[in-house]
Amino acid sequence: MKIKTAEFVISNTEVTKCPATTIPEFAFIGRSNVGKSSLINMLTNRKKMAKTSGRPGKTQLINHFIVNNEWHLVDLPGYGWARVSKTDRGKFGDIIASYLLDREPLVCTFILIDIRLKPQPIDLEFINWMGENNLPFALVFTKADKISKNKVESHRAAFNRALKADWAELPVSFITSSLAKQGQEGVLDYIEDVINSLE
Ligand code: GTP
Ligand code: MG
Repeated sequence: MKIKTAEFVISNTEVTKCPATTIPEFAFIGRSNVGKSSLINMLTNRKKMAKTSGRPGKTQLINHFIVNNEWHLVDLPGYGWARVSKTDRGKFGDIIASYLLDREPLVCTFILIDIRLKPQPIDLEFINWMGENNLPFALVFTKADKISKNKVESHRAAFNRALKADWAELPVSFITSSLAKQGQEGVLDYIEDVINSLE
């Protein structure tokens, strides 16, 4: 898929206020600071469309962008940010859960995983929660530029081993780096395939 246009639409805290359309929607989620906003900018060839920050918790709203006037891309707040207060964390959790469970145009969620780390319980819990709720997803490993190619492969294999404890089949996954612009075509072509399979 070629990116022709990508524009910000609206930010919300509530799923009921998200755009009232039926065009297919793809969301990006993961732990705070995993690189969601950076990935969205990389995928859409934009430098600052989605706001990024070295400080976890930058994205706190459901942010809709429209791509090629054809599909919505959604930047979500991160989960598992230890520094937010208990109440805030509950709120982020509720925003995310109700968006994922109730948003009808949502066809696939990309779950971002930091390729540098060993499998994190919170990521595995989130993936299992998606599975329990029958929500389609794909995995996107981020920040591949930060470790060697060998480590990228061994960390991906370790993550797959952790998934095999709960999953009979492994999900689709992509290796990406927003800094090195790696993985753009793979993710965009997957989105195109999913859109075509809907028609
Ligand atoms: P929240 O909105 O706070 O949940 O974070 P986020 O997941 O949107 O992460 P964001 O894109 O803001 O990136 C967090 C930090 O990681 C920033 O300092 C980015 O520059 C850095 N970063 C993101 N992606 C990459 C990457 O592929 N490579 C490298 N080296 N750094 C990255
Ligand atoms: Mg963000």
